[in-house]
Amino acid sequence: MNKIYIGADHGGFELKEQIIGYLTDLGYEVKDVGVFNTESVDYPDYANEVAQKVIVDNCLGILICGTGVGMAIAANKIKGIRAANISDVFSAKMLRAHNNGNILCLGARTVGLELHKEIVNAFLSADFEGDRHQRRVDKIVALEN
Ligand code: RB5
Repeated sequence: MNKIYIGADHGGFELKEQIIGYLTDLGYEVKDVGVFNTESVDYPDYANEVAQKVIVDNCLGILICGTGVGMAIAANKIKGIRAANISDVFSAKMLRAHNNGNILCLGARTVGLELHKEIVNAFLSADFEGDRHQRRVDKIVALEN
């Protein structure tokens, strides 16, 4: 999984640019859906854009707003998305390993850049463990249907 979709609102714009640089240096193909400046926008529009691409391309995504909260709420409305707002490295790893999460949400106004980078790295490096976790994810899918 080398392709990552990323999106942000105005509150997440600056962090998005920094994370794009970080991921590009690591060799990821980063697809940026915006926003491209700090003018005020509505985060659900960007959550939807990234979520739709993640479903169609069956890949991972990153969404950034001021807290990460709004992005997570909005992204989880899209069928097939398992998004979480994360501010620690352990949960970032578990989002993939146990929940088969496909969108990581970050709060630009919460933790610092270096921790955000570690969180992103943990999310992208972990693999879904399947087994009993698959059964639980299947139950989430059943709730959706
Ligand atoms: C925008 O000011 C802010 O509400 C947004 O970035 C985000 O934190 C919402 O959850």
